[in-house]
Amino acid sequence: MQADLIIQDATLPDGRSGLDIVIADGIIQAVGPGIDAEAREVIDAGGRLVTPPFVDCHFHMDATLSLGLPRLNQSGTLLEGIALWGELKPLLTHEAVIERALDYCDMAVAQGIGAIRSHVDVCDDRLLGVEALLEVKERVAPYLDLQLVAFPQDGLYRSAKALENLERALDLGCDVVGGIPHFERTMEDGRRSVVELMAIAAERGLLVDMHCDETDDPHSRHIETLAAETQRLGMAGRVAGSHLTSMHSMDNYYAAKLIPLIAEAGVAAIANPLINLTIQGRHDTYPKRRGLTRIKELEEAGVPVAFGHDCVMDPWYSMGSGDMLEVAHMAIHAAQLTSQAAMRRAFQAVTTVPAAILGLEGYGLTPGSHAHLVLLDAQDPIEAIRLKATRLVVVRHGAIIARTPPRTTELHLVDRPRHLSLRRPPAEAAKTRH
Ligand code: FE2
Repeated sequence: MQADLIIQDATLPDGRSGLDIVIADGIIQAVGPGIDAEAREVIDAGGRLVTPPFVDCHFHMDATLSLGLPRLNQSGTLLEGIALWGELKPLLTHEAVIERALDYCDMAVAQGIGAIRSHVDVCDDRLLGVEALLEVKERVAPYLDLQLVAFPQDGLYRSAKALENLERALDLGCDVVGGIPHFERTMEDGRRSVVELMAIAAERGLLVDMHCDETDDPHSRHIETLAAETQRLGMAGRVAGSHLTSMHSMDNYYAAKLIPLIAEAGVAAIANPLINLTIQGRHDTYPKRRGLTRIKELEEAGVPVAFGHDCVMDPWYSMGSGDMLEVAHMAIHAAQLTSQAAMRRAFQAVTTVPAAILGLEGYGLTPGSHAHLVLLDAQDPIEAIRLKATRLVVVRHGAIIARTPPRTTELHLVDRPRHLSLRRPPAEAAKTRH
């Protein structure tokens, strides 16, 4: 077989190892041990992990990398962040939003991200963010799938022209219907907004992803309406509830009734551990709530749970580097996902699960899939998360689009090794040390 690229001796996220991945015409042609093929380029994975790209299913690309504009969030709180975004919005220019978004996409690609779902604020009558990100979507398409959610950030009913703007954004090409029911003025307005937005999505045949119950208020139960409407409209598999942080604080009896409804309705859950941890629990003294949704219980009920990055260096969050392994790492700690199975699921929550939520076609490492993959300097998903492993090689359509050298340290100690790697020593070496 004549191929464009062969990756030899790869370990896959499902644990299979010693495999060759043969790529031609931008497609994975074969996966198996010792495949007899020739290629223009051969990469020896050396037993390291090869994964399909990371998928960030919850992001805000219209605000990313705007940290410090027009000033820094001194208190680091959500409220000052919202005020800051309000100050920045009128100052945004089409070119600046595009430039920052392209910069972020470079960072994301280097970190092995292959697809991003970004919410884009439609509460600016100019729809400046929408138009800018639609242009970015087209420009990055060769190396990154960008899906845009029309997001009425200031509230569908709280913001005078949000509904009209949202429809305009969908007409212009946004892919997904967003919402923010807990931010409407009353519970009833929140409920109504879910019903109205779901009707728009059903009518247009679009996916739905709402910021839903991003609050510590246990009575914020818009996820119930979202699930019920999903069931009523037959939209299973096409709807996601983002954040769902109020579920952290809900009464256990009610949660035990709600979780099966979410599962039956076929609604996916998207947690954003970095942001949920920093923004929730701010009215608490001690103990302080973590604010993360009930990840373990949702997963055990069969609900697809994915993790998003949400923010990187913007009015709400000064941290972040487009690293979905950092996101998974935080989720494991905050939600105590420490069983072997739960840690492996945390890796799936930044790869296969969000890929399904976005409806990405040809995603995966099976023959016939797009040759989009990442070689990590780790031996398995758990080590990858532990080390936030270096993305040694990022491949898109069978071509290398990013390379990063492995991290090594030269030690200058007496009677100690010269080079240090943070990777786990090979099993044989470990066995001799009891
Ligand atoms: Fe968000």
